Amino acid sequence: MDKILVQGGRKLKGSVAVSGAKNAALPILVSGLLCDGPNTFTNVPDLRDIQSTMQLLTHLGARCQMEGHTVQVDGAGLNNHEAPYDLVRKMRASILVLGPLVARLKKARVSLPGGCAIGARPINLHLKALASLGAVIELAHGYVEASCDRLRGAEIYFDLVTVTGTENILMAAALAEGTTILHNAACEPEVKALADVLVQMGARIQGAGTPEIVIEGVERLHPVTARIIPDRIEAGTFIAAAAATSGDVVIQGAETDHLEAVIHKIRLAGASIEVQGGDIRVQGSDLIKSVDLKTLPYPGFPTDMQAQFMVLMSTAQGSSIISETIFENRFIHVGELRRMGADITITGNTALVKGVPHLSGAPVMATDLRASACLILAGLIADNTTEVNRVYHLDRGYEALEVKFQQLGAAIRRVKG
Ligand code: EPZ
Repeated sequence: MDKILVQGGRKLKGSVAVSGAKNAALPILVSGLLCDGPNTFTNVPDLRDIQSTMQLLTHLGARCQMEGHTVQVDGAGLNNHEAPYDLVRKMRASILVLGPLVARLKKARVSLPGGCAIGARPINLHLKALASLGAVIELAHGYVEASCDRLRGAEIYFDLVTVTGTENILMAAALAEGTTILHNAACEPEVKALADVLVQMGARIQGAGTPEIVIEGVERLHPVTARIIPDRIEAGTFIAAAAATSGDVVIQGAETDHLEAVIHKIRLAGASIEVQGGDIRVQGSDLIKSVDLKTLPYPGFPTDMQAQFMVLMSTAQGSSIISETIFENRFIHVGELRRMGADITITGNTALVKGVPHLSGAPVMATDLRASACLILAGLIADNTTEVNRVYHLDRGYEALEVKFQQLGAAIRRVKG
């Protein structure tokens, strides 16, 4: 297994371009199953999760190919309704094929994704909403089995805001008969991006990006060419890194509207952040102020940025209280940060972070995607060397992150395992 070595203490300088958004690319690639022809998606990040998605779509009968950052998905050959455990277990987001399979093939047999390091990650809300559209749902032998004659529009209330739950139903309802109204739908930019592609394909969707979405079902959708939006979490990770290292970094090609909560909080922590079109210039201050934080559904502060923000707070002046309201177990990175000298106390879903003068490099273990990024950020500001192990987590969601940090002057390199 690869590991990444980071020599801390350097201020990041220079500019870096943001890749396409993983969490937009995954549902948009899957939406290719809804069309009888070749879709072309550009600005797709080159990630393990993208490879896993293409492998699953191919297994279902679609034709997929990737050249550089362009991916073609042709759903014409869709003929297999089963997503097996050995593919789904690699990536939870595979559950996104459930809605399209039921919509196109009138049946689906998808392995239950199971939990992961950050939580149980149930899919009860996906299933309840799909049943509202008329699907008969059974759980057997670790699989979801769903079938229907034809999906019919319904009024659906999500008990919790669920990003992929909203995306699954958007894709199912697009081909249902009649009108579907979603209440308490997720407003994340990645949901809006999927809806924009579905509309381009011929779907009739109003209100995407707000909690109330109305979908008028249509008979069929046609293939399109679409560009994946920039990754707001990758951009946020670079903003946090520039602030934490008191650097001076220009992040290019971000969608700044998607980063308002992140920019607001990191400005409160003392960094100077200027927005110029799609570019964000971050000048970190030597004095980092402690700021309290609560993660919330969009447009609140994203849970996927919580670990990175915690690193910024670990050497701030004073103490900050960080509350994780989305996932029940998303403080796994705390144990590793403590080993680097951070002073963090956890009570339930709240962490009290007392700023310390500095962190010290150590061998650490990545446990999930965003925790991996946080450990690299910690290595950038720690004394001496940090060795981040199990970086395959990182490669799921960040394209060549260590190369991008090298471009910004960091002393960082990958050691092939
Ligand atoms: C998406 O996961 C993202 N993944 C996650 O990013 C992100 O952290 C999360 O949304 C929250 O923003 C993708 O888009 C591929 P949820 P998702 O359904 O859709 C509970 C990353 O690092 N819930 O919005 O799985 C759930 O347990 C990943 O890129 C139910 O109880 O998250 C959680 O507490 C990590 N029942 C809350 O809702 C359900 O049926 C929000 O989960 C569904 C969800």
